[in-house]
Amino acid sequence: MDVIGRDDELRSLDASLDRPAAGGLAALVLEGEAGIGKSTLWLAGVEAARKRGLRVLSSRPAELEAGVAYAGLGDLLENALPEVGSELAEPRRRALEVALLVRDRADVPVDFRTLAVAVRSALDMLAEREPILVAIDDVQWLDASSTHALAFALRRLPGVNIRLLLARRIGKAIPVSELEHAVGDHVERLHVGPLSVGGLHQLLQRRLGRVFARPTLLRLHETSGGNPFYALELARALGADADPTQPLPVPETLEALVRARLDRLPDGTREALLLACAHGRLPAAHLSEAALEPAFVDGAIELEDAAVRFTHPLLASVLYQHASLAARRRAHGQLVEMVDDPLARVRHRALAAPSLTPLSPVRSTRRPASRSPAGPRSPRPSSGSSRSPRRPRTQPRIDTGELLQPLAPISRRAKEPARASSLTSWLLEPRRARRAARRSRFCPSS
Ligand SMILES: Nc1ncnc2c1ncn2[C@@H]1O[C@H](COP(=O)(O)OP(=O)(O)OP(=O)(O)O)[C@@H](O)[C@H]1O
Ligand SMILES: [Mg+2]
Repeated sequence: MDVIGRDDELRSLDASLDRPAAGGLAALVLEGEAGIGKSTLWLAGVEAARKRGLRVLSSRPAELEAGVAYAGLGDLLENALPEVGSELAEPRRRALEVALLVRDRADVPVDFRTLAVAVRSALDMLAEREPILVAIDDVQWLDASSTHALAFALRRLPGVNIRLLLARRIGKAIPVSELEHAVGDHVERLHVGPLSVGGLHQLLQRRLGRVFARPTLLRLHETSGGNPFYALELARALGADADPTQPLPVPETLEALVRARLDRLPDGTREALLLACAHGRLPAAHLSEAALEPAFVDGAIELEDAAVRFTHPLLASVLYQHASLAARRRAHGQLVEMVDDPLARVRHRALAAPSLTPLSPVRSTRRPASRSPAGPRSPRPSSGSSRSPRRPRTQPRIDTGELLQPLAPISRRAKEPARASSLTSWLLEPRRARRAARRSRFCPSS
């Protein structure tokens, strides 16, 4: 992918990869608001690392995969497992195979410590052969089980030649990843800021094939705060006859723009996309080709390893947030029959249950966006700026007892406690997510 502008950031990426690895572990974290261009730079970093001969272990978790235990670890180590598996002690190999779903885990519990030690050994062995880059995009959505196991391993590999390239959204509700703590002092953070007006001009020309009059371009830059995703959505919604002397005749919140784009898709397409989104990485073969086609044409989705992937996570977030509770339950209910992993089935069953209310759309009293005299606005997921005294204080009821009931047999038999507890925390997560969403400019306005 061609990266427009970002000369300084690309130089920092190169410098970080070229730095001698004498000190062992080192991490570069690309941080910035949603849509600002982190993944674009992360991909450039992965490509640059490959060119330098580093072996890249990568994962790009989707938001709804945060509750799928060991999904991230599977991405990172699945391909390497056949190489190192035979050299691991039997209990460690078994733990890794079970966590990565290579081995049927019906009668084999995953012991967290054994697994974490297995991850450490596997990384150690791989790094002895060649320099390693562990690259994780949207690290805030890496499932908790994978995060804990990886952090455990990294803390015990201080002198080993492993680099990390992480991309993480910033926001009050998004903590620094445990992986960053695990690397200790050798963490470099690169803040990804707005694109310049010139950069935006090039981006719109290249991606949309359109050139805008300078006053319109300046307004697009101002309204989007130089955020490329936001600017692309604004420009997409702008007719060819937009009057450069008038305010932009399109919705000004990013969420409203994305929503309007999704609303233009046929109902059947949105239903198929909701299934894909509720799953995280559903193989396209499970969905009707005809239903998916308009979303491919629109550029909202692409295929990755035969699974449906949203071209940007905000499309998935807005789609899921704005689907009715009944539609989301229906989607999770359908997924119960489609997934093989028993814990994934439990998760979808819980989310399909009528007693589960935490993901109901948030009522917002947010006023329509107004132009800020202080300068350009940009979408800050957790800026806290949308607090309103009229915000309803009542919380939807969360029946945790009933919600967690399906997990009881798993916990009781102490089988897969890490997977069960990861699932539990994810199921409870919506309460936190909703709190964050309320503070966010992406908060649904229904
Ligand atoms: N420097 C750039 N050159 C070309 N395209 C860019 C650049 N920066 C961003 N884009 C485009 O803008 C959109 C948003 O960028 P990107 O997905 O990298 O943002 P992000 O910070 O990773 O967002 P999120 O936090 O939501 O994952 C993408 O379509 C991407 O292709
Ligand atoms: Mg991204």
